[in-house]
Amino acid sequence: MPEREIITTSDRPDLDEQSQAALLPVWPEFIFHDQVSSDLIGRVAECFPSCDIRILEDGEVVAGSWGVPLRWDGTPETLPAGYDEALISAVTGYEQGIAPDTLCVLAVAVRADRQGAGLGAQALVAMRSVTTTAGLQRMISPVRPVLKSRYPLIRMANYARWTRADGTHVDPWIRTHQRLGGVILRPAERSMVVTGTVAEWEEWAGLAFPESGRYVVPGALDLVEIDRDRDVGAYAETNLWMRHL
Ligand SMILES: CC(C)(COP(=O)(O)OP(=O)(O)OC[C@H]1O[C@@H](n2cnc3c(N)ncnc32)[C@H](O)[C@@H]1OP(=O)(O)O)[C@@H](O)C(=O)NCCC(=O)NCCS
Repeated sequence: MPEREIITTSDRPDLDEQSQAALLPVWPEFIFHDQVSSDLIGRVAECFPSCDIRILEDGEVVAGSWGVPLRWDGTPETLPAGYDEALISAVTGYEQGIAPDTLCVLAVAVRADRQGAGLGAQALVAMRSVTTTAGLQRMISPVRPVLKSRYPLIRMANYARWTRADGTHVDPWIRTHQRLGGVILRPAERSMVVTGTVAEWEEWAGLAFPESGRYVVPGALDLVEIDRDRDVGAYAETNLWMRHL
């Protein structure tokens, strides 16, 4: 059995390069072109390093999760729209001195060769500890269900209701959240918005988009809208708000 250790990036900033090499390849390329995220990610790293954890096996990064502390009154109606708005809320709240009460988990990633071994669940448990250690009352997440990209034509509100014969969710990542006590709140519409030129989208997706229309892109939970006349590709991802604490 490898020796496992959980650290925060505030304890081990030296692991940054190794983390990127291990964890960035698990995401589809277009995710790295969300403008809000690109603008704020540096501030997030500076302001909230204790909300950024890594799981190490024998000293090597095998999984990670990060989130942001923000203020939320606990009602579904006042949740941020999703990932982008949670980032904005956390950074502006920090700058305005608004005391946070909620940890919003924005990503969990497991190195490709270590997926399916329970590390994702372990990362969520670690984020609960981050929440309580920071004195926050609640933990929420705009979850990106792992199998949703196979059903980009289906609305998240419908997908959220899909259960197997045993009553558990069809999506293994939603199932993992639920097993740990997470409950579904509601879809997070326009959680993450990615806009680019048609050429950029062709590169990110590894596909040709010869005419305007809506396309299925690998790893995308919703369709990508290509407009060749305006030279714009637009994607608005719907995630699923879940609450743990
Ligand atoms: C989603 C992710 C974090 C899950 O972590 P993990 O350590 O692989 O998951 P676990 O081992 O805890 O397994 C959880 C469940 O998912 C299943 N699972 C894991 N990887 C899977 C995959 N690629 N496809 C389908 N099911 C998968 C497991 O079988 C398990 O289901 P079950 O126990 O109910 O049968 C990981 O697969 C990952 O990094 N994916 C890419 C990034 C991502 O999509 N992150 C989630 C959005 S923030």
